[in-house]
Amino acid sequence: MIRLLSAGLLGLFALMATAAPLDPAQDYHSVSNPHQVRTTHLDLDLTVDFTKRELAGHVIFDFERLDTNARELVLDTRDITVIATSARIDGKWQKTGFKLGKLDPAMGQPLRIALPPAADKIKVQYRTSPQASGLQWLTPVQTAGKKHPFLFTQAQAIHARSFIPLQDTPQVRTTYTATLRTPKALRAVMSAENTPNAPKTGVYTFKMPQAIPSYLIALAVGDLEFKAMGERTGVYAEPSMVESAVAEFEDTEAMLIATEKAYGPYSWGRYDLLILPPSFPFGGMENPRLSFITPTVIAGDKSLVSLIAHELAHSWSGNTVTNATWRDLWLNEGHTTYLTYRIMEIIYGTDRFNMESVLGYQDLVADLKDLPKPYQQLAIDLRGKDPDDAFSDVPYEKGALLLKELEDKVGREAFDAYLKQYIADFEFKSLTTEQWLAYVDKHLVSKYPKQVSMARIKQWVYEAGIPEGAPMPQSDAFTKVDNQRDQWLAGELPAAKIDVKDWTVHQWLYFLNNLPLELSLDQMRALDDQFNLTASRNNEIAHSWLLIAIRNGYEPAYQRLEDYLVHIGRRKLITPLYKALMHTDSGAAFAKRIYKVARPGYHPLAQGTMDAIVQP
Ligand code: BES
Ligand code: ZN
Repeated sequence: MIRLLSAGLLGLFALMATAAPLDPAQDYHSVSNPHQVRTTHLDLDLTVDFTKRELAGHVIFDFERLDTNARELVLDTRDITVIATSARIDGKWQKTGFKLGKLDPAMGQPLRIALPPAADKIKVQYRTSPQASGLQWLTPVQTAGKKHPFLFTQAQAIHARSFIPLQDTPQVRTTYTATLRTPKALRAVMSAENTPNAPKTGVYTFKMPQAIPSYLIALAVGDLEFKAMGERTGVYAEPSMVESAVAEFEDTEAMLIATEKAYGPYSWGRYDLLILPPSFPFGGMENPRLSFITPTVIAGDKSLVSLIAHELAHSWSGNTVTNATWRDLWLNEGHTTYLTYRIMEIIYGTDRFNMESVLGYQDLVADLKDLPKPYQQLAIDLRGKDPDDAFSDVPYEKGALLLKELEDKVGREAFDAYLKQYIADFEFKSLTTEQWLAYVDKHLVSKYPKQVSMARIKQWVYEAGIPEGAPMPQSDAFTKVDNQRDQWLAGELPAAKIDVKDWTVHQWLYFLNNLPLELSLDQMRALDDQFNLTASRNNEIAHSWLLIAIRNGYEPAYQRLEDYLVHIGRRKLITPLYKALMHTDSGAAFAKRIYKVARPGYHPLAQGTMDAIVQP
């Protein structure tokens, strides 16, 4: 009921908002006032309380006054309790007034703090709520070790405001320092300079010397160990996960070196991975210096490591060159997806590049089928909407495909040179889609007017779907799979004779994802008996198989499905499964029963997504 009401309100806001012309430079998802007073540094001091499920302490801001008449600092908050605010004047802290404004369902609540003309710092004492959308508090049972609790943050897109009151817009960049106070048995890490083997004292300090947008502020606390992989790369994970993670991701250092060679120096010092428990709602999150990674990609054969290439690539596209608003997310994700493919080709060769490109393209085509037209544009009008609701393959794969088209037209060498310059020119800056268009015009289109045109590029950006004549990835390795599958489906080849000897995980995914929607029970059994798909330990293969099992009511897979849904909280893997279950009465009953058990273990974001599907 509450969800219905808020959905209705959101719709109303959307209607009201779309009437006015859109200002591309305005971040419609922040109520803060950086154009008057812009924060430049923040210093955090927080105590992590697992019993109360709260962070409590303070944040102190340095700021610049862009408007000398400004008399308040306005911050974004959501579900935060403000205890007191103070201003530093001539080195002394004095209480200053504050007011929490009206709650907006999409944005949260503005915190207006009176700013005395002589103040040079502002302090906010606060605590978070157990429901904070950017925090997940895990009980020991939800971790690998089962002994200690775990906490992690996920700030992108607009959840930083649920654990720090701040100017929560990618147009503001701040450096930060932090002190985290934790139970003694645990280690805290942040998207900052970490001290890998710092003694476990329960007090940890951090410094992030590069200015970053708020959505990249991150912390995690748990029973964490560190192991180096290379000179600049390493893994933080629970003790039982460290070895397998290091083995899986050992090519990270090579990826880092290859990306630097192609697109310019890595700006962030170290690049480490933090392996989270399986409830992490994303595959990965590019928190600077320390990407947060789902354990569901530890497959034992490096088959799913493109995720690491992706999060690493964000160190160039996203973390250095940043989207100005959430409408421009495709600048982050499209460039990063393009770079991911390129990194994968350098490290693992062209066959893998081709296979991953085809799978990405197929995901996009599948997504476009169900997506309303406005969400099929690269630049999406999100006024009045929660940016999380616009999440799809469009900013990723359609964005990357546009860049691939430009590459094809001007040639790889010229396009790489252009990209390298783009990254250098916008280092540590935010930019809008329209600024990007102006840049492409000047640095690519005007140089290659016969090969590329602004009209074509604008079609990609502002129109729905994939423009006609777009590049279409191909893979010879998949043609072989097509042959085998077609013969099997035609009854010309028994399952036992399908030649899977040298199939890679990607070929399996392609085989499964391109089966007809309906299979007979005999066909399902034949595949499962022959290839043990229900028991697959590769989480992507299991996902594709379970989806087929649901569509065809294949009961022998249902126990595995139950374990999968209860154990894994990664949205991309579980959302399609719940959606498919809801198509039949018996599936819906199954989904509701499992969801009751699984829901408490899901992240607030995943709970929100699944609530809307399963309606418990
Ligand atoms: N930055 C994203 C995750 C994200 C995007 C969170 C938008 C919130 C809002 C991250 O880099 C990402 O894209 N993760 C993907 C994996 C990738 C290999 C496509 C994911 O989690 O599935
Ligand atoms: Zn990404």
